[in-house]
Amino acid sequence: MLDRLNKKPNDLSAFWMPFTANRQFKQAPRMLVAAQDMHYTADDGRKVMDGTAGLWCVNAGHCRPKITEAIQKQAAELDYAPAFQMGHPIVFEFANRLAAMSPEGMDHVFFTNSGSESVETALKIALAYHRAKGDGSRFRLIGRERGYHGVNFGGISVGGIVSNRKMFGTLLTGVDHLPHTHLPAKNAFTRGEPEHGGDLADELERIVALHDASTVAAVIVEPVAGSTGVLIPPKGYLKRLREICDKHGILLIFDEVITGFGRLGAPFAADYFGVVPDIMTTAKGVTNGVIPMGAVFVKKEIHDAFMNGPEHMIEFFHGYTYSGNPIACAAGLATLDTYQEEGLLTRASELSDHWADALHSLKDEPHVIDIRNIGLVGAIELESIPGEPTKRAFSAFLKAFERGLLIRTTGDIIALSPPLIITKGQIDEMIDNLRDVLRMVD
Ligand SMILES: Cc1ncc(COP(=O)(O)O)c(C=O)c1O
Repeated sequence: MLDRLNKKPNDLSAFWMPFTANRQFKQAPRMLVAAQDMHYTADDGRKVMDGTAGLWCVNAGHCRPKITEAIQKQAAELDYAPAFQMGHPIVFEFANRLAAMSPEGMDHVFFTNSGSESVETALKIALAYHRAKGDGSRFRLIGRERGYHGVNFGGISVGGIVSNRKMFGTLLTGVDHLPHTHLPAKNAFTRGEPEHGGDLADELERIVALHDASTVAAVIVEPVAGSTGVLIPPKGYLKRLREICDKHGILLIFDEVITGFGRLGAPFAADYFGVVPDIMTTAKGVTNGVIPMGAVFVKKEIHDAFMNGPEHMIEFFHGYTYSGNPIACAAGLATLDTYQEEGLLTRASELSDHWADALHSLKDEPHVIDIRNIGLVGAIELESIPGEPTKRAFSAFLKAFERGLLIRTTGDIIALSPPLIITKGQIDEMIDNLRDVLRMVD
């Protein structure tokens, strides 16, 4: 590790960095070279507190020994084995463990390698399910404005982030969008679920009436929208979506790529809100972010609808070379052990009051126009500099990094989602640091 501290890459040009201002970054790179528990180490040796669990994924904190050891052992024992027409024990073991902890009735798991692939998989399962039942006219997919469902074509089609969509042509056809639920004029500075906006779920009735229910396959939403700036569902909203979907025979997909594995203080957002979808997409925290993996949870009825036709035939023409990769499964099992041994899947609920108090103490700091929180997620929305959206929050990001804190910004919103191992003292430290940052940025 120390070696790497002093080693700077000699050329930054070949790596085309994802979701990054490449030219700006390469003029003044920010390098992380090591990590342990709540902290990164930057290449100048500074400790940087991880305020974002990497990218919402390192829920148990960094370089946890049990996970590292499981990966090392599995790599030496069975590095890769195909999962097409072949099996290896650990993938079945991992699927069983996940099914056992999933919300009621979600008994089957399809493995992918990322959140984006989980979303594509879920959308394909939804379309193919209706067709398998002889209801092939249900081809429409409904997403939501400001939704983020990864970067593949299905995901950006149902997603609602304009900059992620506008460059890429016509996308999927047959897609419509619910309105987003962000109502700052009514809900600013709410702790937890906002009072206003639950009725926006009724927009689904309008969309269904427009297209006719017989053409609608599925609705996909993030229970809490993360990447678009932490949009917390208004009270009653998700329950109402569930009711409308049930009424019209439409599948409800929860994209739990961020909310899965303890982020809200329950294993899944479905548990937290008491609303069970038909299909649930996960990734990130499934392996503590350490090995790329995603898992799509599916209700028994949906899975069983595919199990017809001749038994020698493949039932679902879909899968990835690395679906259920043994090393990813080993990482996943050790991750679940770590979560369970340390009570991390519910720890956010123990910390959430302290977290909310700390976050909302920033209310009167400069430029702050809203603060939102749920579980161990928080957002601080800043007033944009006129004509220069994103610039103020990005300055805060740079300043925070300089001062040893990694935050994430989207638009002019600072999003926080620390590893679930954070202590109350570390929460206070993070928020005090952020307070100074807010006082420093223009
Ligand atoms: C809700 C949601 N869905 C999908 C994704 C995409 O995941 P990935 O980047 O692993 O493809 C993300 C990533 O942040 C996400 O937040």
